[in-house]
Amino acid sequence: MAEEQKAWWKEAVIYQIYPRSFQDSNGDGIGDLPGITRRIPYLKKLGVDVIWLSPIYQSPNDDNGYDISDYRAIMKDFGTMADFDTLLKTAHEAGIKLVMDLVVNHTSDEHAWFIESRKSRTNPYRDFYIWKDGRDGKEPNNWESYFSGPAWQYDAATDQYYLHCFSKKQPDLNWENTKVRDAVFDMMTWWCEKGIDGFRMDVISMISKDQSFPDGPLKADGYGDLSPHVCNGPRVHEYLQEMNDRVLSHYDLLTVGEAAGVTIDEAKKYARSDGKELGMVFQFEHVGPENGKGSIIDKWTTGKPQMPDVRAILNKWQLELEGKAWNSLYLDNHDQPRCVSMFGNDSPEWRVLSAKMLATCLHMQKGTPYIYQGEELGMTNTTFHSLADCQDLEEINAWHQYVDEQKKVTPETMLTCFNTVARDNARTPMQWDASDNAGFTDGTPWLAVNPNYKTINAEAALKDPDSTFYYYQKLIRLRHAYPIIVYGTFEPLLEEDPCVYAFARHLDNETLRVACNWTDKEVPCTLFEGLEGETLISNYEQHKADCLQPYEARVLLTRDAR
Ligand code: GLC
Ligand code: CA
Repeated sequence: MAEEQKAWWKEAVIYQIYPRSFQDSNGDGIGDLPGITRRIPYLKKLGVDVIWLSPIYQSPNDDNGYDISDYRAIMKDFGTMADFDTLLKTAHEAGIKLVMDLVVNHTSDEHAWFIESRKSRTNPYRDFYIWKDGRDGKEPNNWESYFSGPAWQYDAATDQYYLHCFSKKQPDLNWENTKVRDAVFDMMTWWCEKGIDGFRMDVISMISKDQSFPDGPLKADGYGDLSPHVCNGPRVHEYLQEMNDRVLSHYDLLTVGEAAGVTIDEAKKYARSDGKELGMVFQFEHVGPENGKGSIIDKWTTGKPQMPDVRAILNKWQLELEGKAWNSLYLDNHDQPRCVSMFGNDSPEWRVLSAKMLATCLHMQKGTPYIYQGEELGMTNTTFHSLADCQDLEEINAWHQYVDEQKKVTPETMLTCFNTVARDNARTPMQWDASDNAGFTDGTPWLAVNPNYKTINAEAALKDPDSTFYYYQKLIRLRHAYPIIVYGTFEPLLEEDPCVYAFARHLDNETLRVACNWTDKEVPCTLFEGLEGETLISNYEQHKADCLQPYEARVLLTRDAR
């Protein structure tokens, strides 16, 4: 096997910050840039190499900043450009790099380009967006937006519809237009010149649309699925190669593409090892609720993924990308429920053990690991008692469509779905300490703090040598110290075991064996029997020879004599 090309971003651990929910510094209930700057020592202590900031640009906040009205200005709620410069400088001084979110599939409808575009059919910015005539007085096709309802919005001023794959305040940019590409690439260069260290690219797999705009396959709610016609479209690789040629290749960046609908074959192109497109992609198969089986409607489900399904998916990605493309590793982000609630066990008895087990299982795989704020504390899902407790437009729109209008789901079931998979579970404020509002704000938080903050918070974790915080710190240190964790090849083990997710990594004469019990029962496991080696990390101090204890995770390094 050819030796893996080395790169700093392959050796790094990334920490994602959702600025709105991280740390408020002025009592308005909204996290901000000075708040993040204040917490750099905490991140330094954790040991992460890179911060990825969810969008901080000027935005009317229809989708919490994923609807940008000016790419070169900072959202007022978050501070000023001077605050950004201070954050960048402080992070760099602490040896932490900073990666920006790049949202260029769409803008806000309040972006100057769109304000121009909608003025007239002949406006110079008209073709910055995707405008179509209606069909028999209705939308141009049957596509449903990812946030419910039609993906087309009628605009009376010019008697045409514009495309919005997400909310109607997020019109899709027309990447077919070279002027759009020029403008995006200029803006990216501007940020690179400021000294940022990379981009996480929002729904980048969707920038090239099927230009015949055909109807999509019919869904249960009567709309058509747009995914086959907007994900991994005909020119997406051409566009990314152009972006790489004109911007990315001039800097030493971490790039990760959020790639809805990505297959392994597509990922091999996006994250190709010759570096002509992106460094890596986020795939979604392993976090898909019940992996597509048995959801109630769209993503809404009350079920949880089963380990054997998750394992089959992750192992497949590990094996198939080996030597061809680089994996990203994540369980949590701002769009997912909390992983300890989804994949682990968030009851007081098992929360810490299962959070550590999941972290071990993920961080010992091959790829770049991502930690989402609060994951290192084992933060859990919250409880929504009614729609009024929710802020996310995905939740609000889905409720209106499926509960109120179509009456396909009862309010009770929808709430159970929300408590299982809603995005706001990940967006409750960071739990810093046991004081009011978890030390997140002196004011009223924009989204309620999870009531469990009195026990689950950073201050408590920092005082407890056995906390998930120190466990993540150790996982990060191990990755920095042992090249086998970064570059070793991956070998699945015990693939038929219903409870234990096990695998090995190999580099030179070293072997790393990893076994994780995903259940609350003691289960037989003889993987380590008779082996002489060093236990690099485990969530139990004592091990049993022929079994794994509930949620036990263990990592053993052995060396063959040469
Ligand atoms: C991505 C973001 C998500 C956002 C959507 C539209 O999936 O992660 O938060 O709502 O794109 O921008
Ligand atoms: Ca604030």
